[in-house]
This record gives sequence, C-alpha cells and structure tokens, in this order.
Amino acid sequence: MSIALLYERSENDENGIKLTAQQLGIDLTYLPFRKIALSIGKNGFSAKTKGKNYTQIFHDIKVVLNRAQSKNRRLQASYTMEALGKKTVNSSQIEFICYSKLRTLLNLNKEGIPIPKTVFVPCDAFDTMKNGREIHNEKDIADLFEQEIPLSEGIVIKADAGTHGKMIMLSKNREELENNIKETKPGIINPIGVVAQELIQKWFYDLRIIVSKEKGKEPVCHHTGMVRAGFKDFRTNTFLGNLVFDAKLPQCLQEMAVKCGKTLSGNSQAWILALDAMVNVGKNKSADETYLKSQLDIATDAWAAVQNIKKDESRLTDFQTWNNRLEAQFKAYKDISAYENIKNIIEENLQTNKGALVFHEANSCPEFWENTRLATGLNVAEPLLKGAQSLIDH
Ligand SMILES: Nc1ncnc2c1ncn2[C@@H]1O[C@H](COP(=O)(O)OP(=O)(O)O)[C@@H](O)[C@H]1O
Ligand SMILES: [Mg+2]
Repeated sequence: MSIALLYERSENDENGIKLTAQQLGIDLTYLPFRKIALSIGKNGFSAKTKGKNYTQIFHDIKVVLNRAQSKNRRLQASYTMEALGKKTVNSSQIEFICYSKLRTLLNLNKEGIPIPKTVFVPCDAFDTMKNGREIHNEKDIADLFEQEIPLSEGIVIKADAGTHGKMIMLSKNREELENNIKETKPGIINPIGVVAQELIQKWFYDLRIIVSKEKGKEPVCHHTGMVRAGFKDFRTNTFLGNLVFDAKLPQCLQEMAVKCGKTLSGNSQAWILALDAMVNVGKNKSADETYLKSQLDIATDAWAAVQNIKKDESRLTDFQTWNNRLEAQFKAYKDISAYENIKNIIEENLQTNKGALVFHEANSCPEFWENTRLATGLNVAEPLLKGAQSLIDH
C-alpha cells in the first residue's frame, strides 16, 4: 500500500516533495494525472497512459497527494480518487471550498472568523441574448456594491477563483468600479457573478500562514508566517515582484489560523492549508516610511540575486545542486541587516495590530519550495507527507 504523488508537471514543489520523501524514507508512486486515461464500465476499471498500464498501481495506492495545479483538475482528481476508494490530501470537500474565495469566506464567517466585508452578486457583467443582443448589468451591479461598501474607501473586485493576484482590481471611483466590473468575464474557472470586497487598509505587507493536521493529532499552525511585502502594488503577491520575509505569529493568530483550518476541513482527518490574511492597520503604522522604503530598496537588491537563481534552468536537470545554491542565496538575503530591520518592523506592527487580522483566502495546493520553506523554515512537504502517512492504517 503506498502514497501517490499526483501531479501535472514536475515543478520545484513536486521535486521538493520527492526529495523530502527520500529523506524521510517514504516511498512515493508518481501519477502523471493529465496523461492517464481512466476507464470505467462493465469490465471494471483501468488506468493507462499511451506507454504504461497504471491499473495495478491504482489498485495499490492508499493515499493520494493531490498536486494537480489547475483548480478544476485538482477537484476532479480528489473526487475521482475518493470514488476509487483512496484517501486524499486534500479531500475533494476541501478542494471544493478552497476553489472559491466566496465559499471559503462563507465558511469562515459562519464560525465568526474575521474576514473582509464581501459582497457577491450572482449576475454577470453582461448577458448575450439569443438574438445576439447584449444586456449590460455593470451599473446595476455597481449600485448593489455601493449600497454595501463605501466607494470612497475603495472597493476591490476579484475573480472568485483566481490566483497570483490576477483579476484583483481596485476601484476608487464610480468609473473605475464600472470598468472593473466590465473586466470580469464568466469562464470555466469563474462561471458566475462578481465578487467585491472592502479595501482592507493594510500597510505594506500581508501574511501566509500554514496550518496542517495528521490523523489522530490536533491541527497545528506553524509558529512563523511568511510575509509578502512591498509598496509596488496593493496586491502583495510574490508573483508581482514583492519581497518575502518571515514573522513570528502571535499566539492568538496561530489559534485563529487553527480555527480556520478546522472550519474549512470539515471532517477530513489529514489536511494542509496555506491561509492568506491581511492586517487592517489603518493608521497604526509603527515606523517611518522613508526609512522603511530605504530598507526595502536595500533588500530588493539582495532579493534580486535569489530571483536570478530561481530562473536558472539548471533546476530542471540537477535539482539538488540548484537547490543548494538557492538555499545559500536565500540565507545571504536573510543575513543582511535590512532584512532584519524590516522583519522587526513587521513583527512589531503585527503585535500592535493583532486584533485587526482578517483571513481572506485558503490555498489547498500552495507553492512552498522557493519561498515559504526558506522564509519560515517549514518544509511544507513534511507535514504533507506525514499527513498522508497518518492515513495509512497500520
Ligand atoms: N479586500 C482587499 N483589501 C486589500 N487588499 C486586498 C484585498 N483583497 C486582495 N488584496 C490584495 O491582493 C492580493 C491578492 O488577493 P487574493 O484574494 O489573495 O487573490 P489571489 O488568489 O490572486 O492571491 C492579496 O494578497 C492582497 O495583498
Ligand atoms: Mg492570495
């Protein structure tokens, strides 16, 4: 009986999981999910690529680590595997909730966890009638949003199922609001409606917090969060060129994160989530911004060296050597005094504003090898693999 790593393409995270499994002495079976034909019918079940028969392998698998990158494929993979009698990390129920920011927020809000005020209008920006005529709903949708969120403080329009900051748009006036609503186009990933949120008055950073659970144990929150920081854009995604830091999480925030995990995981016995949270600091900014920006400029130069290694294609041919270089360069980045200075500002600000945290997203298949692991010291592959192992009955 074994653990399978189900993936679409073998990227750094998947290579990292393989390497970690080797170090932990855990055997992994690999399932290139996109290439396998799953066949069901009166003659039973088979699973085959063009060159290999996976049917017996499927029979032997007990637990599936689902690392399919597309949200749709991930949801289908977990559900399919569960229907075939496998345990999954994460479960299809978790995937279903995390797929949608609205579904995530509905669940968090129900448990009294603070979230940004969010408004969902199930209507699309425009409808095309049978005769080809377009009916525009932007103005009505904008009116509905404005009834709930003061536009003068900013309204964020977001794709319910987006990632990497894509289709997250800030509106400060009516024209921007209507234009941003117009930009939202229903598609396979975001089939219906428009989501709006109050603009959280965060400062220059937000948080990513890892919570996980093994079967038979209480859920845990890693004591240190990853911080994404920068003044470039109101979206702090690392994808948009922001810097990465680490910050010790006040105990009450760790407890809140555990509560989020419990809420979103339902009755799953083993799971792992990366929660995104913002701090509504308002005017509570505890450092001089000119100084802070000068420190960020210094850190940006050191960070560029880390980014250069990430781009290096040698990771595809010699992952271990590339990884050693990445770790060394990340350490050099963390060792500069600007890093320490910024980290201190963040930790102090977080402590002061710990009552102003809001959770806004949960990621069920987080990227971790390049940033989260090196910033926070938590190799997410470990709780992932241990969670999977805990599901195997001995
Ligand atoms: N309501 C909001 N107020 C302020 N900033 C926001 C808000 N929503 C999102 N952002 C910023 O945009 C980033 C991306 O938004 P998020 O909802 O996490 O979507 P994604 O799936 O693209 O990461 C967040 O990390 C945050 O920095
Ligand atoms: Mg996010």
